[in-house]
Amino acid sequence: MEEAKREHFGGRLAIIMAMAGSAIGLGNIWRFPYLAGEHGGAAFIFVYIIASLFLSLPIFLAESIIGRRSHANTYGAMEKLAPGTKWKWMSILTIIAPLIIVSYYSVVGGWSIEYLLKSLTFSFNNVPRAEISSMFSSFIASPWIPIACHTVFLGTCAVILTAGVKSGIEKFSNWSVPILFILILVILLYSLTLPGAMDGVEYMIKPDFSKIDSKVILAAMGQSFYSLSLGVGTILVYSSYVSKKENLLVSGVGTAVFDLLFAIMAGFAVMTAVFSAGVKPGAGPGLIFESLPYVFSTMAGSAPIISGIIAILFFVTILVSALTSGVSLMEVGVAYLVEEKKMRRGVATLSVFIGTWILGCLCSLSFGPMSGLKIFGENLFGFCDWISSNFLMALGALLFSLFVGWKMKKSDVYDEFTNGGTLRFNVRCFKAVYFLIRYIAPLVIGIIFLSGILL
Ligand code: TRP
Repeated sequence: MEEAKREHFGGRLAIIMAMAGSAIGLGNIWRFPYLAGEHGGAAFIFVYIIASLFLSLPIFLAESIIGRRSHANTYGAMEKLAPGTKWKWMSILTIIAPLIIVSYYSVVGGWSIEYLLKSLTFSFNNVPRAEISSMFSSFIASPWIPIACHTVFLGTCAVILTAGVKSGIEKFSNWSVPILFILILVILLYSLTLPGAMDGVEYMIKPDFSKIDSKVILAAMGQSFYSLSLGVGTILVYSSYVSKKENLLVSGVGTAVFDLLFAIMAGFAVMTAVFSAGVKPGAGPGLIFESLPYVFSTMAGSAPIISGIIAILFFVTILVSALTSGVSLMEVGVAYLVEEKKMRRGVATLSVFIGTWILGCLCSLSFGPMSGLKIFGENLFGFCDWISSNFLMALGALLFSLFVGWKMKKSDVYDEFTNGGTLRFNVRCFKAVYFLIRYIAPLVIGIIFLSGILL
């Protein structure tokens, strides 16, 4: 009865598109290039791929197994699979963490709206670099426009969510993910033609293995968690909309491949452009807002109209990819309110919107009027990013892997992963996957925690 009421994604491709929509986002375009830049280029990418394969993918599968087994939100899932235990309290983490993430994520999403508008009016053309940098810092410090943009961003996510799983999330990601790939390909091809682009290519593919140390490994693992949207229940909830017929391994691998491909394409696009313009690659988080408008709109040797258009495409890419991720983050809270608090979907979405809007406003103001408020030396925005991506996500990932590896019955995990023993390939790799979920994932995340405390 209850099962019949719940919406399901339309099919294998729709599932991968929705999950890839969640995975592909600011993490790929903004975080990945600058982290790769700071941590030895190809050496970082190498560690990142290994971490994705042996750590993130098993955790992704663990979340998928819980989600599809229970066909419920994060709280309901724990109640169904471990009734009457304390595990349900874990869902508090998975409800709060994505809401914290989406609050500051939406602020950055809002910046991309403003930058899209600026690029549409060709406002960066022939503006000196220093001026573009100061444009950014004075923009984020101003109170009103960033909050207005944050409101539009979050509101758009809310509108998509109100439409439901199939007509909202699925429809939106079905058309936006392919478009994102086309856009990033166009940008990449353009960037590769820029003078001096090959220095950027070299930077991305020439590994400097001497750079690999514990910091690089930690950064690569953290990035791989972040990029695949792990540890806060996003993948769990999306998997709860997957029907029993589908193959969880295929959707997991499909999502990871799309996500990786996109990160690498974005990494090359950003780095070739950055090198071509003689901008420092290690410019950090401000890279895409401070350097790239300059890079794309003031390119020597190319017609301003073309580089202006590329700037527009670039900010559209950032905006759309951030929207599909924002939607997935909000859905964790919406699913909880609809199923556990019996709210109507619209009301649940509005409640999540209001809570995250307020926190987002405070995050936005923490670059300006509220910059005096410091938490552990960070402004509120930095603190929300830090606590969620360094702490809450890893904690969530640890708990999910412990739940599947130690709390759930092995036969149930097997049943879910292999569709009752009918998927031959999954049957063959079950042992390895189970081993990674049960032993390797908790061990490695435990080490991450310890080193985080000790470093
Ligand atoms: N993965 C997204 C990105 O790369 C962001 C995101 C969506 C996320 N859902 C998440 C990050 C859950 C952490 C946890 O931009």
